[in-house]
Amino acid sequence: MSVKFAIVGCGAIGSRHAAVIDAEARGSIVTFCDTVSEKARLLSEKYGNDITCYTDYDEMLASTDATVVNICTPHGLHAEMAIKAANAGKHILVEKPMALTVADSMAMIKAAEENSVHLMVVKQNRFNVPIALTKQAIDSGKLGRVFMAQCDVLWNRHDGYYAESNWRGSKTLEGGALYTQASHFIDLLNWWFGDVVAVQAEIATRNHSIEIEDCGNALLTFDSGVMGSLTWTTCVYNKNYEGSITIIAENGTIKIGGPYLNKIEYWDVKAMPLQDDIIFVDKPNAYGKYQGTSSNHDKVVANVVSKLLNERHHVVEGDEGIMSIRAIEMIYKHARMV
Ligand SMILES: NC(=O)c1ccc[n+]([C@@H]2O[C@H](COP(=O)([O-])OP(=O)(O)OC[C@H]3O[C@@H](n4cnc5c(N)ncnc54)[C@H](O)[C@@H]3O)[C@@H](O)[C@H]2O)c1
Repeated sequence: MSVKFAIVGCGAIGSRHAAVIDAEARGSIVTFCDTVSEKARLLSEKYGNDITCYTDYDEMLASTDATVVNICTPHGLHAEMAIKAANAGKHILVEKPMALTVADSMAMIKAAEENSVHLMVVKQNRFNVPIALTKQAIDSGKLGRVFMAQCDVLWNRHDGYYAESNWRGSKTLEGGALYTQASHFIDLLNWWFGDVVAVQAEIATRNHSIEIEDCGNALLTFDSGVMGSLTWTTCVYNKNYEGSITIIAENGTIKIGGPYLNKIEYWDVKAMPLQDDIIFVDKPNAYGKYQGTSSNHDKVVANVVSKLLNERHHVVEGDEGIMSIRAIEMIYKHARMV
Protein backbone atom coordinates (compact mmCIF):
# COMPACT_ATOMS: atom_id res chain seq x y z
CA MET A 1 0.00 0.00 0.00
CA SER A 2 1.55 3.30 -1.07
CA VAL A 3 0.29 6.87 -0.70
CA LYS A 4 0.73 8.95 -3.85
CA PHE A 5 1.88 12.56 -3.48
CA ALA A 6 1.85 15.55 -5.86
CA ILE A 7 4.21 18.40 -4.95
CA VAL A 8 3.32 21.94 -6.01
CA GLY A 9 6.17 24.41 -5.59
CA CYS A 10 9.56 22.85 -6.34
CA GLY A 11 11.74 25.39 -4.52
CA ALA A 12 13.65 25.16 -1.25
CA ILE A 13 11.07 23.22 0.76
CA GLY A 14 9.42 21.41 -2.17
CA SER A 15 12.81 19.76 -2.77
CA ARG A 16 12.89 18.60 0.86
CA HIS A 17 9.36 17.16 0.52
CA ALA A 18 10.52 15.28 -2.58
CA ALA A 19 13.55 13.83 -0.76
CA VAL A 20 11.55 12.61 2.24
CA ILE A 21 8.72 11.12 0.17
CA ASP A 22 11.30 9.38 -2.02
CA ALA A 23 12.82 7.87 1.15
CA GLU A 24 9.41 6.91 2.62
CA ALA A 25 8.79 3.20 1.97
CA ARG A 26 5.01 3.64 1.78
CA GLY A 27 4.95 6.89 -0.19
CA SER A 28 5.64 7.81 -3.79
CA ILE A 29 5.81 11.02 -5.82
CA VAL A 30 3.60 10.92 -8.88
CA THR A 31 3.52 14.60 -9.90
CA PHE A 32 5.53 17.82 -9.69
CA CYS A 33 4.16 21.27 -10.46
CA ASP A 34 5.99 24.58 -10.64
CA THR A 35 5.39 27.65 -12.79
CA VAL A 36 9.12 27.46 -13.56
CA SER A 37 9.18 24.26 -15.62
CA GLU A 38 12.92 23.75 -15.10
CA LYS A 39 12.48 23.38 -11.31
CA ALA A 40 9.90 20.61 -11.68
CA ARG A 41 11.94 18.93 -14.42
CA LEU A 42 15.10 18.85 -12.27
CA LEU A 43 13.26 17.13 -9.43
CA SER A 44 11.63 14.71 -11.84
CA GLU A 45 15.06 13.79 -13.23
CA LYS A 46 16.37 13.27 -9.70
CA TYR A 47 13.50 11.10 -8.47
CA GLY A 48 12.35 9.24 -11.59
CA ASN A 49 11.86 10.46 -15.12
CA ASP A 50 8.36 8.99 -15.26
CA ILE A 51 7.08 11.60 -12.77
CA THR A 52 4.74 13.90 -14.66
CA CYS A 53 5.49 17.64 -14.49
CA TYR A 54 3.09 20.54 -14.86
CA THR A 55 3.43 24.31 -14.92
CA ASP A 56 -0.30 24.91 -14.46
CA TYR A 57 -1.81 23.95 -11.10
CA ASP A 58 -5.41 23.60 -12.38
CA GLU A 59 -4.24 21.27 -15.16
CA MET A 60 -2.26 19.27 -12.61
CA LEU A 61 -5.28 18.89 -10.34
CA ALA A 62 -7.44 17.76 -13.25
CA SER A 63 -4.99 15.02 -14.23
CA THR A 64 -2.97 13.77 -11.26
CA ASP A 65 -3.84 10.48 -9.59
CA ALA A 66 -2.15 11.67 -6.36
CA THR A 67 -4.02 11.15 -3.09
CA VAL A 68 -2.26 14.08 -1.38
CA VAL A 69 -1.22 17.47 -2.71
CA ASN A 70 1.78 19.00 -0.91
CA ILE A 71 1.49 22.78 -1.11
CA CYS A 72 5.02 24.22 -1.04
CA THR A 73 4.38 27.57 -2.74
CA PRO A 74 4.60 31.10 -1.24
CA HIS A 75 2.25 31.66 1.73
CA GLY A 76 -0.15 33.94 -0.13
CA LEU A 77 -1.06 31.08 -2.52
CA HIS A 78 -1.74 28.42 0.12
CA ALA A 79 -5.44 29.11 0.73
CA GLU A 80 -6.57 29.18 -2.90
CA MET A 81 -4.47 26.14 -3.78
CA ALA A 82 -5.71 24.15 -0.77
CA ILE A 83 -9.36 24.94 -1.53
CA LYS A 84 -8.90 23.88 -5.15
CA ALA A 85 -7.19 20.65 -4.05
CA ALA A 86 -10.04 19.90 -1.62
CA ASN A 87 -12.61 20.54 -4.35
CA ALA A 88 -10.68 18.10 -6.55
CA GLY A 89 -11.03 15.46 -3.78
CA LYS A 90 -7.37 15.50 -2.74
CA HIS A 91 -6.01 15.41 0.79
CA ILE A 92 -3.73 18.38 1.50
CA LEU A 93 -0.40 18.74 3.25
CA VAL A 94 0.18 22.48 3.35
CA GLU A 95 3.41 24.12 4.45
CA LYS A 96 3.39 26.58 7.29
CA PRO A 97 1.84 29.09 7.57
CA MET A 98 -1.39 27.45 6.44
CA ALA A 99 -2.62 30.87 5.18
CA LEU A 100 -2.19 34.59 5.75
CA THR A 101 -5.56 35.26 7.41
CA VAL A 102 -7.95 33.56 9.78
CA ALA A 103 -10.72 33.99 7.20
CA ASP A 104 -8.68 32.12 4.56
CA SER A 105 -7.76 29.40 7.07
CA MET A 106 -11.43 28.93 7.93
CA ALA A 107 -12.34 28.71 4.24
CA MET A 108 -9.69 25.99 3.82
CA ILE A 109 -11.05 24.02 6.79
CA LYS A 110 -14.60 24.34 5.42
CA ALA A 111 -13.56 23.16 1.93
CA ALA A 112 -11.79 20.13 3.42
CA GLU A 113 -14.83 19.26 5.54
CA GLU A 114 -17.26 19.67 2.63
CA ASN A 115 -15.14 17.39 0.44
CA SER A 116 -14.35 14.86 3.22
CA VAL A 117 -10.60 15.26 2.77
CA HIS A 118 -7.90 15.91 5.37
CA LEU A 119 -6.24 19.30 5.65
CA MET A 120 -2.84 18.70 7.29
CA VAL A 121 -0.28 21.37 8.17
CA VAL A 122 3.51 20.95 8.34
CA LYS A 123 4.72 21.58 11.92
CA GLN A 124 7.92 19.56 11.92
CA ASN A 125 9.44 21.18 15.02
CA ARG A 126 6.95 19.35 17.22
CA PHE A 127 9.13 16.27 16.59
CA ASN A 128 12.35 17.90 17.87
CA VAL A 129 13.70 15.95 20.84
CA PRO A 130 13.72 18.96 23.27
CA ILE A 131 10.19 19.96 22.16
CA ALA A 132 8.72 16.49 22.67
CA LEU A 133 10.35 16.25 26.14
CA THR A 134 8.90 19.62 27.12
CA LYS A 135 5.44 18.55 25.94
CA GLN A 136 5.76 15.50 28.23
CA ALA A 137 6.80 17.68 31.17
CA ILE A 138 3.79 19.99 30.63
CA ASP A 139 1.12 17.33 29.90
CA SER A 140 2.22 15.03 32.75
CA GLY A 141 1.78 17.94 35.18
CA LYS A 142 5.40 17.61 36.29
CA LEU A 143 6.15 21.26 35.58
CA GLY A 144 3.15 22.30 37.67
CA ARG A 145 1.53 25.63 36.87
CA VAL A 146 3.30 27.47 34.08
CA PHE A 147 3.71 31.17 34.83
CA MET A 148 5.66 32.63 31.92
CA ALA A 149 7.30 31.79 28.62
CA GLN A 150 9.91 33.80 26.77
CA CYS A 151 10.53 33.17 23.09
CA ASP A 152 13.39 34.63 21.04
CA VAL A 153 13.78 34.18 17.29
CA LEU A 154 17.06 35.98 16.62
CA TRP A 155 17.96 35.07 13.09
CA ASN A 156 19.85 36.31 10.08
CA ARG A 157 18.39 36.66 6.60
CA HIS A 158 20.85 38.27 4.22
CA ASP A 159 19.78 40.85 1.62
CA GLY A 160 19.92 38.30 -1.19
CA TYR A 161 17.36 36.12 0.61
CA TYR A 162 14.81 38.84 -0.09
CA ALA A 163 16.25 40.32 -3.29
CA GLU A 164 16.53 36.98 -5.11
CA SER A 165 12.93 36.02 -4.40
CA ASN A 166 9.77 37.36 -6.01
CA TRP A 167 7.71 36.80 -2.85
CA ARG A 168 9.92 37.11 0.24
CA GLY A 169 9.60 40.56 1.78
CA SER A 170 6.28 41.13 -0.03
CA LYS A 171 3.26 42.13 2.04
CA THR A 172 0.77 40.22 -0.12
CA LEU A 173 2.72 36.98 -0.62
CA GLU A 174 4.81 36.71 2.57
CA GLY A 175 2.70 38.88 4.89
CA GLY A 176 5.39 39.28 7.56
CA ALA A 177 8.33 37.64 9.27
CA LEU A 178 6.00 36.18 11.89
CA TYR A 179 4.47 33.95 9.20
CA THR A 180 7.81 32.81 7.86
CA GLN A 181 10.29 32.65 10.72
CA ALA A 182 8.30 32.91 13.98
CA SER A 183 5.20 30.83 13.15
CA HIS A 184 7.11 27.65 14.07
CA PHE A 185 7.66 29.04 17.56
CA ILE A 186 4.14 30.42 17.95
CA ASP A 187 2.74 27.00 17.01
CA LEU A 188 4.70 25.41 19.87
CA LEU A 189 3.50 28.04 22.36
CA ASN A 190 -0.09 27.41 21.19
CA TRP A 191 0.43 23.63 21.45
CA TRP A 192 1.63 23.96 25.04
CA PHE A 193 -0.37 26.90 26.38
CA GLY A 194 -3.45 27.33 24.15
CA ASP A 195 -4.78 30.20 22.09
CA VAL A 196 -3.40 33.71 22.39
CA VAL A 197 -6.20 35.87 23.83
CA ALA A 198 -4.49 39.26 24.33
CA VAL A 199 -1.57 41.02 22.67
CA GLN A 200 0.58 44.15 22.77
CA ALA A 201 3.14 44.51 20.02
CA GLU A 202 5.44 46.74 18.01
CA ILE A 203 7.19 46.08 14.71
CA ALA A 204 9.81 47.90 12.61
CA THR A 205 11.81 47.46 9.43
CA ARG A 206 15.38 48.31 10.38
CA ASN A 207 17.89 46.69 8.08
CA HIS A 208 16.33 45.37 4.85
CA SER A 209 14.59 47.00 1.86
CA ILE A 210 11.35 45.05 2.26
CA GLU A 211 7.62 45.74 2.69
CA ILE A 212 7.41 43.67 5.89
CA GLU A 213 9.00 44.01 9.32
CA ASP A 214 12.43 42.64 10.23
CA CYS A 215 12.19 43.37 13.98
CA GLY A 216 9.34 42.89 16.43
CA ASN A 217 8.37 42.54 20.07
CA ALA A 218 5.12 41.19 21.48
CA LEU A 219 3.63 40.51 24.88
CA LEU A 220 1.16 37.63 24.72
CA THR A 221 -1.46 36.24 27.09
CA PHE A 222 -2.55 32.64 26.50
CA ASP A 223 -5.98 31.29 27.40
CA SER A 224 -4.32 29.05 30.01
CA GLY A 225 -3.23 32.26 31.76
CA VAL A 226 0.45 31.89 30.79
CA MET A 227 2.18 35.22 30.15
CA GLY A 228 4.46 35.22 27.13
CA SER A 229 6.94 37.42 25.37
CA LEU A 230 8.14 37.08 21.81
CA THR A 231 11.07 38.89 20.20
CA TRP A 232 11.78 38.19 16.55
CA THR A 233 14.18 39.56 13.98
CA THR A 234 15.89 38.66 10.74
CA CYS A 235 18.57 41.33 11.35
CA VAL A 236 21.13 39.35 13.37
CA TYR A 237 24.61 39.92 11.99
CA ASN A 238 26.10 37.17 9.78
CA LYS A 239 24.16 34.05 10.83
CA ASN A 240 21.29 32.74 12.96
CA TYR A 241 22.11 33.37 16.61
CA GLU A 242 19.32 31.76 18.58
CA GLY A 243 15.83 30.28 18.42
CA SER A 244 14.81 29.69 22.01
CA ILE A 245 11.92 29.23 24.38
CA THR A 246 12.28 29.57 28.17
CA ILE A 247 9.52 28.32 30.46
CA ILE A 248 9.16 29.44 34.06
CA ALA A 249 6.88 27.12 36.01
CA GLU A 250 5.95 26.16 39.56
CA ASN A 251 8.05 22.99 39.61
CA GLY A 252 10.64 23.62 36.98
CA THR A 253 12.51 25.79 34.53
CA ILE A 254 13.31 24.81 30.95
CA LYS A 255 15.26 26.62 28.26
CA ILE A 256 15.22 25.10 24.79
CA GLY A 257 17.71 26.74 22.48
CA GLY A 258 20.34 26.21 19.88
CA PRO A 259 19.87 27.96 16.54
CA TYR A 260 16.65 26.03 15.75
CA LEU A 261 15.22 24.61 19.02
CA ASN A 262 17.56 21.65 18.86
CA LYS A 263 19.24 21.84 22.29
CA ILE A 264 18.24 21.90 25.89
CA GLU A 265 20.18 24.81 27.36
CA TYR A 266 18.73 24.41 30.84
CA TRP A 267 16.46 21.80 32.44
CA ASP A 268 15.57 21.74 36.11
CA VAL A 269 12.25 19.93 36.56
CA LYS A 270 11.52 18.56 40.03
CA ALA A 271 9.94 15.22 39.10
CA MET A 272 11.53 14.78 35.67
CA PRO A 273 15.32 15.04 35.71
CA LEU A 274 16.96 15.07 32.31
CA GLN A 275 18.37 11.65 31.44
CA ASP A 276 22.08 11.51 30.57
CA ASP A 277 21.57 9.28 27.55
CA ILE A 278 19.25 11.50 25.48
CA ILE A 279 20.55 11.77 21.93
CA PHE A 280 19.88 15.14 20.32
CA VAL A 281 19.46 14.26 16.68
CA ASP A 282 17.64 17.23 15.16
CA LYS A 283 19.34 18.85 12.18
CA PRO A 284 18.45 22.12 10.42
CA ASN A 285 17.05 22.45 6.92
CA ALA A 286 20.02 24.00 5.14
CA TYR A 287 19.34 26.18 2.07
CA GLY A 288 22.80 27.24 0.93
CA LYS A 289 23.40 30.70 2.42
CA TYR A 290 20.87 30.36 5.26
CA GLN A 291 19.42 27.78 7.61
CA GLY A 292 15.81 27.17 8.62
CA THR A 293 14.38 25.18 11.51
CA SER A 294 14.54 21.44 11.96
CA SER A 295 14.51 19.05 9.05
CA ASN A 296 11.98 16.66 10.60
CA HIS A 297 9.84 16.66 7.46
CA ASP A 298 10.49 12.91 7.21
CA LYS A 299 8.46 12.46 10.39
CA VAL A 300 5.68 14.72 9.09
CA VAL A 301 5.37 12.69 5.89
CA ALA A 302 5.58 9.35 7.74
CA ASN A 303 2.71 10.49 9.98
CA VAL A 304 0.64 11.66 7.00
CA VAL A 305 1.09 8.19 5.48
CA SER A 306 0.09 6.55 8.79
CA LYS A 307 -3.01 8.73 9.05
CA LEU A 308 -4.13 7.97 5.52
CA LEU A 309 -3.57 4.24 6.12
CA ASN A 310 -5.73 4.53 9.28
CA GLU A 311 -2.89 3.93 11.71
CA ARG A 312 -1.84 5.84 14.84
CA HIS A 313 -0.39 9.19 13.86
CA HIS A 314 0.63 12.66 15.00
CA VAL A 315 -0.67 14.92 12.29
CA VAL A 316 -1.50 18.59 12.81
CA GLU A 317 -4.84 19.38 11.17
CA GLY A 318 -6.28 22.71 10.04
CA ASP A 319 -8.14 23.42 13.29
CA GLU A 320 -4.78 23.43 15.13
CA GLY A 321 -2.86 25.13 12.31
CA ILE A 322 -5.24 28.09 12.50
CA MET A 323 -4.19 28.89 16.10
CA SER A 324 -0.87 30.45 15.09
CA ILE A 325 -2.57 32.40 12.27
CA ARG A 326 -5.04 33.80 14.80
CA ALA A 327 -2.17 34.84 17.10
CA ILE A 328 -0.18 36.40 14.26
CA GLU A 329 -3.18 38.35 13.01
CA MET A 330 -3.69 39.74 16.53
CA ILE A 331 -0.02 40.70 16.86
CA TYR A 332 0.04 42.61 13.56
CA LYS A 333 -3.31 44.24 14.28
CA HIS A 334 -2.02 45.62 17.58
CA ALA A 335 1.37 46.60 16.17
CA ARG A 336 -0.25 48.55 13.31
CA MET A 337 -2.53 50.41 15.69
CA VAL A 338 0.29 51.85 17.82
N1 LIG B 1 8.43 23.96 7.41
C1 LIG B 1 9.52 24.64 7.16
O1 LIG B 1 10.50 24.61 7.93
C2 LIG B 1 9.62 25.46 5.92
C3 LIG B 1 10.87 25.80 5.42
C4 LIG B 1 10.94 26.56 4.24
C5 LIG B 1 9.77 26.97 3.61
N2 LIG B 1 8.57 26.65 4.15
C6 LIG B 1 7.32 27.13 3.52
O2 LIG B 1 7.23 26.63 2.19
C7 LIG B 1 6.69 27.63 1.33
C8 LIG B 1 7.66 27.84 0.17
O3 LIG B 1 8.89 28.33 0.68
P1 LIG B 1 10.27 28.10 -0.11
O4 LIG B 1 11.31 28.64 0.78
O5 LIG B 1 10.35 26.70 -0.62
O6 LIG B 1 10.05 29.10 -1.35
P2 LIG B 1 10.76 29.02 -2.78
O7 LIG B 1 10.61 30.38 -3.39
O8 LIG B 1 12.11 28.43 -2.68
O9 LIG B 1 9.83 28.00 -3.58
C9 LIG B 1 8.51 28.29 -3.95
C10 LIG B 1 8.26 27.64 -5.31
O10 LIG B 1 6.88 27.82 -5.66
C11 LIG B 1 6.83 28.04 -7.08
N3 LIG B 1 5.56 28.68 -7.41
C12 LIG B 1 5.20 29.97 -7.19
N4 LIG B 1 3.94 30.18 -7.65
C13 LIG B 1 3.50 28.99 -8.13
C14 LIG B 1 2.28 28.57 -8.72
N5 LIG B 1 1.25 29.41 -8.91
N6 LIG B 1 2.18 27.27 -9.12
C15 LIG B 1 3.21 26.42 -8.97
N7 LIG B 1 4.40 26.76 -8.41
C16 LIG B 1 4.53 28.03 -8.00
C17 LIG B 1 8.05 28.90 -7.34
O11 LIG B 1 8.44 28.89 -8.70
C18 LIG B 1 9.08 28.25 -6.43
O12 LIG B 1 9.80 27.22 -7.10
C19 LIG B 1 6.46 28.87 2.19
O13 LIG B 1 5.12 28.94 2.57
C20 LIG B 1 7.34 28.64 3.40
O14 LIG B 1 6.85 29.19 4.61
C21 LIG B 1 8.47 25.90 5.27
